[in-house]
Amino acid sequence: MMFGKIVSSKQEGNVVKIQFEKRNGRIEVITKDIINVFANFESEEHNSFAIEGNKVIPCEIKVTQEKDHILISTDSLTLKVYDDFKVDLYDKNGVLLCEDSREGRRLNETFDREAFLELIASEGHDVQEESKLHTIEVIKKMQGDEAFYGLGDKTGFLNKRSYEFENWNSDLPQAHNEDFKALYKSIPFFITLRENGVFGLFFDNHYKSYFDMGKEQLDYYYFAADKGNLDYYMIGGSNMAEVVSNYTYLTGTTPLPQKFTLGYQQSRWSYETRKEVEELAANMRKYNIPCDVIHLDIDYMKDYKVFTWNDKTFPNPKEMMDNLKENGFKIVTILDPGTKVEDGYFMYEEGKEKGYFATDENGEIYVNQVWPGDAVFPDFSSEEVRNWWADHEKDLIDTGVSGIWNDMNEPASFRGPLPLDVQFAHGEKTYTHEELHNVYGSLMSKAAHDGLEKHDKKRPFVITRACYAGIQKYSTVWTGDNQSLWHHLQMAIPQLCNLGLSGVAFAGTDVGGFGADVTKELLIRWVQVGCFSPLFRNHCAKAQRRQEPWTFDEECLDIYRKYVKLRYHFLPYFYDLFAKGEKTGLPVMRPLVLQYEKDSNVKDMNDQFLVGDSILVAPILEQGKTKRMVYLPQGEWVDYHTKEVIKGGQYILKDAPLSICPIYIKSGSVIPVGPEQNYVGEVKEDILVLECFGENGSYVHYQDNGEDFAYREGEYNAYEITMKAGKVTAKQIHSGYEKAYKGYQVIKDGAISSIMEFEK
Ligand code: NOJ
Repeated sequence: MMFGKIVSSKQEGNVVKIQFEKRNGRIEVITKDIINVFANFESEEHNSFAIEGNKVIPCEIKVTQEKDHILISTDSLTLKVYDDFKVDLYDKNGVLLCEDSREGRRLNETFDREAFLELIASEGHDVQEESKLHTIEVIKKMQGDEAFYGLGDKTGFLNKRSYEFENWNSDLPQAHNEDFKALYKSIPFFITLRENGVFGLFFDNHYKSYFDMGKEQLDYYYFAADKGNLDYYMIGGSNMAEVVSNYTYLTGTTPLPQKFTLGYQQSRWSYETRKEVEELAANMRKYNIPCDVIHLDIDYMKDYKVFTWNDKTFPNPKEMMDNLKENGFKIVTILDPGTKVEDGYFMYEEGKEKGYFATDENGEIYVNQVWPGDAVFPDFSSEEVRNWWADHEKDLIDTGVSGIWNDMNEPASFRGPLPLDVQFAHGEKTYTHEELHNVYGSLMSKAAHDGLEKHDKKRPFVITRACYAGIQKYSTVWTGDNQSLWHHLQMAIPQLCNLGLSGVAFAGTDVGGFGADVTKELLIRWVQVGCFSPLFRNHCAKAQRRQEPWTFDEECLDIYRKYVKLRYHFLPYFYDLFAKGEKTGLPVMRPLVLQYEKDSNVKDMNDQFLVGDSILVAPILEQGKTKRMVYLPQGEWVDYHTKEVIKGGQYILKDAPLSICPIYIKSGSVIPVGPEQNYVGEVKEDILVLECFGENGSYVHYQDNGEDFAYREGEYNAYEITMKAGKVTAKQIHSGYEKAYKGYQVIKDGAISSIMEFEK
C-alpha cells in the first residue's frame, strides 16, 4: 500500500484531500470525536453496509501544514498525517493514542514449509494458511499497554490481544475454540484501551478482512483486506463508554425491543408437531417456569420450504397460536435463505420468474444444497427482493407469528461454499458473493425486520446468526452452535460482552448448549448466566439430550425456576437498560472494564460481568466448583443473597453451592422490579416497585406500552427516583403513557414498604 510523499493538500469543509505521489487519500471529520481515513481502492465514495445517512456533525476543525505533516484537529482529537499516508492520533491533551508503524510487517520465518505441511497434513492435522501480505494493510505500532476489545462474536477471551482473526462469516460445526479465526459475524470494530487513553477503530470494509492484534509480532498490530477501500474510522471519547456511544452513533444503536422479548424463551431443534408444542407450553405452566416465547425450528415447514407449514404435523397453526397467545406464549419461527428448488413451489417460481436468485458465471440460477435439498439464494442486496421476502412474512404474521429467527444466512451451504464469483445481480448494482458474503445475513435480517414492521406494526423481533457491523438496528443475535461444554459456558461471557461493546446490545447464547449433551450441573450453571444475558433462550440440537428445565430432577427444576423468576424480577431493569441504550448505545451486559477501565484487575476479566452498572454477576463456570473468588471493584457492594455489605477494591471468596449464583448489587442502586408472573403482561403493574440498596443514589425509570412505536411520539412515562440517607422519593418527570403507575413501593433489606404517592 504505497502512497509516497505528500504532494499537496486541500481542505473542503470537513474533508481534507491529500495528494500523495502515488495515490490520493482523504481525511474526513465526521464529528469532533470521529475521524475517517479513506483512500479509493475500489470506489470514490464510502461503500458502507453499516452506516446509514449522513453522520457528519459540523464542528470546529483546524488544519495546518506543518514541516513534515498535515495537522488536523477538532476539540477532541488531533490527527497528524505524514508521507505514505501514515497517521498518528492524539487526544485533546496531546496524548498519543495510536501511531502508524513506519515499517512493514515482518512475516514469521518459515523453513521448508512445503515438506513440513505435507507431513503434518498426512497425519490429519489442520494446516494453517501461511500469512501473506494484503492489498490494504494498516499496521499500528504496539505501544505496549494495549488491551483490545470488541470484534463482535469472536471466540476466546475478552481481551483480544495476541490473537488473530478473520472476518468471513462462517458456520463451523466443530466446537468453537479460542483458536478459531472466524465465526458467524463480521464486526470489524475494536476498542483499544491504554493506560492513558482509549479509542475505537472501525474498518468499514465488508470483504474478507484480517485482524492481527499482536500475534504475528509483539511490536505491532494490523488490520487488512484484499478488496474494497481503505476506509476506517478512528473513534475517540473520554472513556470506553463514550467510544461505544460514538461507534453506535455511527452505526446505529439497538432500538428498544418489545417487552416480551426480554422474557424467557424455549427452543429446540425441533418441536416437531403441534402436539409437542402444546405439551411444551402446558409443561411450562405446570412446572411454573415463566416463559414468553416458543421457537419453531425448521420442522414446522413442509419439506423445509420457507413460508410454508407442514399441515400434517402442524394442522391449523393459527388455532394453535391463538390458543398459545391466550396463555401468554408468543411463537417465533425460523427462516433460512436457502429456498427449495421445486417446480410449483411459489417461492421458487416467483423468485425464478422475477430473477430474484443469485446466479452463476453463466447467468443461470446458482444451486447449492441446504436443508430442503437443492436450494437457491435470494439476492437480498436488492430492495425489491427484500420487499418480496418481507411481504411473504405477512402470512406468517397473520397466522400468529411474533418474531423471525434467521438462520444459515452466512449463507451456509452443504455442497461446498458458494463460489466467490456467484452473482447477486438483481439490484442496482451487481455484487459478487465475495463482496456480499459478510453482509448477506444483515440484508436478510433487514428484510425480516421490514416485514414485521410493515405487517405486524410492532417493534420487530428478529434474531440472526450471521451479520455485519450495524446489525443492531435490525436484529438481535445469538452466538450460533455452541455446545454443552463448560468452556462454552465460560466463553459465553466474553463473547456476549464483546458483542455488546461492538454495538450489539441484544444478544444471547443457546442456554444449556446446542451441540453435545448437557448435564444437570451445566444446565443449572448456564441458566444462572443466561438469566442475566440480554437474549435468554434455551436451545438444543436434534439428537442431543433434551434440556427443558424439567429434564433432570426436582432440584434442577427448582433452581432453574428460581433463576428464570429472578429474570422476571429484574425485567423492568433490563427494559430500562434497553430504553437508555437506544439513546446511548451502551450495552446491557457489560464487561467490568467498561465501567472500571482504570482498574487493572478487570482488563482481562472473563468470568464476571455487569448488567447495567448496578448488578455484578460472578457465576460458577467450572464443573464441580462450589466456591469462587469474586472481584468487587471500588465502591461498596451488597451480596444479593445474604444482604451483607462488602467493601469493593478486593477479592473475596464466595460459597456458591449449586443453587447459588453469586450476585452483587452496587450500593446506592435503585432497581425497578417486576411481579411474579408466567409471562410479561400477565400481572398488571400499576404500582412501581423499587428494590433499593445502600443509602444514597438516584435512578430514572422508563415506562411505555412495551409493544409499538408510540413511545417515539412521546407516549411514555419517566420517573426520577432519589434515595437520600435511605429515604426514597419518586417523581414522575415525563408523562405521555396513559397507564401511569398509581404509586410506588420500596423493598429494602428484604422488607417492602406500603404504597407511597409520587411527589408532585
Ligand atoms: C443451525 C442453527 O444454528 C441451529 O440453531 C438450528 O437449530 C439448526 N440450524 C436447524 O435449523
